[in-house]
Amino acid sequence: MGHDCSADETIWDDAYALDRAHVFHSWHAQRDLHPTEVVTGHGVWLNYADGREMLDFTSQQVNVNIGYQHPAVVEGIKKQAELLATIGPDYANLARGRAASLVARRAPEGFDKVFFTNAGADANENAMRAARLVTGRDKILSSYRCYHGNTGAAISATGDWRRKPNDYARGHVHFFTPYLYRSEFFATTQEEECERALTHLEHVIEFEGPDTIAAVLLESIPGTAGIIIPPKDYFKGVREITRKYGILMITDEVMAGFGRTGFWFALDDYDYTPDIITFAKGCNSGYVPAGGVIMSKPVAAYFDDVVFPGGLTYSGHPLAMGAIVATQEAMEREHIVDNAHDVGRDVLGPGLEALVEHHPTIGEVRGKGVFWAVELVADRATKEPLDDASMQRIVAEADKLNLVLGVHNNRIHVTPPCVISAEEAAEGVARLDKALTAAGC
Ligand SMILES: Cc1ncc(COP(=O)(O)O)c(C=O)c1O
Repeated sequence: MGHDCSADETIWDDAYALDRAHVFHSWHAQRDLHPTEVVTGHGVWLNYADGREMLDFTSQQVNVNIGYQHPAVVEGIKKQAELLATIGPDYANLARGRAASLVARRAPEGFDKVFFTNAGADANENAMRAARLVTGRDKILSSYRCYHGNTGAAISATGDWRRKPNDYARGHVHFFTPYLYRSEFFATTQEEECERALTHLEHVIEFEGPDTIAAVLLESIPGTAGIIIPPKDYFKGVREITRKYGILMITDEVMAGFGRTGFWFALDDYDYTPDIITFAKGCNSGYVPAGGVIMSKPVAAYFDDVVFPGGLTYSGHPLAMGAIVATQEAMEREHIVDNAHDVGRDVLGPGLEALVEHHPTIGEVRGKGVFWAVELVADRATKEPLDDASMQRIVAEADKLNLVLGVHNNRIHVTPPCVISAEEAAEGVARLDKALTAAGC
C-alpha cells in the first residue's frame, strides 16, 4: 500500500510548498491560504523564513504566555524525554503528580484534583461531563459571546459562528453576558449592565427549569468573543443564583489563565469560587499540548466510588507534564505574572488608550494584563463595526512594520506573551499607531 510521493523530493526542503501540498489547515477554505513560514523565535520575537524578526502581539492562539523558546521549558521537556518519553495514564509518575500539584495550587482553596486532557476543548468536554454526572441533570447554560473549543459538547456550548455548522450535541442553552459597549440590556453603567444581565440569567434558568440544568459554563473573561471584562460583581451574582438552584458553575480559564490577565487565574480578580475550573494554553504555553479540569472537593469526591466515564490515551502525557512543571516554576521564579500585570497597567493600557485621540475608528479599548481589545468602528456614534477590508489593511500595514497583529471581526486583540518588557510593549504600541495611520484608520 501507500503511494508514490517522489514528487515531494523536489520540495523536501521547502516548508511552504510541502504545506500547500499536504497540510490541511483549521477554520479555513484551503485554496487561497498563504501561510507564513516561521523558523524560530525567542521571547516575544518570531523569526520568519524571509529573514524578518517580528514582534508578536498575538502569542499565537493566545497561548504562548512564557514566550518562545524559554530555555527552562525546553530543558524540562528534554530531561523528561530522556527519562521517560511516554507512559499511560494509569501509572503514577513524578512529572504528572508535580504538574497536578503546581496547577491545583493556583486554584482556590479546596481544589486539589486535576484531570489532564490534551487541550482546552476536551477540558470543557470533561468538565461538562462531570457536572452532568454529579447533578444528574442535562443542560449546560453558556454565553452567546464565548468560545469553548471544537469538540462535540464544547462547540455546542460555544456562542459564536463556529457553533452553527457543528451544533449536534444536545442540552445546550445560551444567554447574554455583560458587554456594556454593546449592551443587550440598554444599560449605561457597568452596575446596570451587571444587575440586568443577572436578572436575565435568572429568567433563563426559571424558563428552562432549574432542575434540568447541570451547570453554567463561563469564560472568566470572554476572550475570542472580544476580551470583554465582566463587571466586578457579575460572577458573585452568578454564583448566588447557581447556588440557589443547585446548579454547578464551571469557569473556563483556558485563554485567560496563567498570567494572561496579570493574575494566575483571571478569576482571582473576582470574589467567587466556582465548582470546576478548566485550563490549557498558558499552563505550559503550548510547548507540548495539554489542558485539564481542576475539581473542587465535592466534585472530585463524587467520583471516589463512582466511575468517571472519561479518559484519554494521553491524559497526563509526561512530555506535556514536564513542560507544565518547567513553565510553572519559571513563571514563579521570574515573576512573569507580575510582569504581565505591570506592563498592562503601565504601558499597554495607557498606550492603547492614548491611540483613541488620534484614530477616530477606535470605539473602545478594554483589557488588563496582556489581554487587550481595541474595538474599531466606522462611526463612534452608531458603533457600526469597521469593515473587514479595513481590518485586513491594518494587519497588512502592521506586517510591513514587523508587528504580528491578531484581528477578530472588528477588533484588534493585543495579547503579547506575558514576558514582554515595558520597552517592547511601548514599541509594539508605537508600531500599531503607525499601522492604523497607514491604513487610514
Ligand atoms: C476560552 C477557551 N476555551 C477553550 C478553548 C479551546 O481550547 P483548544 O483549542 O486548546 O481545544 C479555547 C481556544 O481558544 C478558548 O479560548
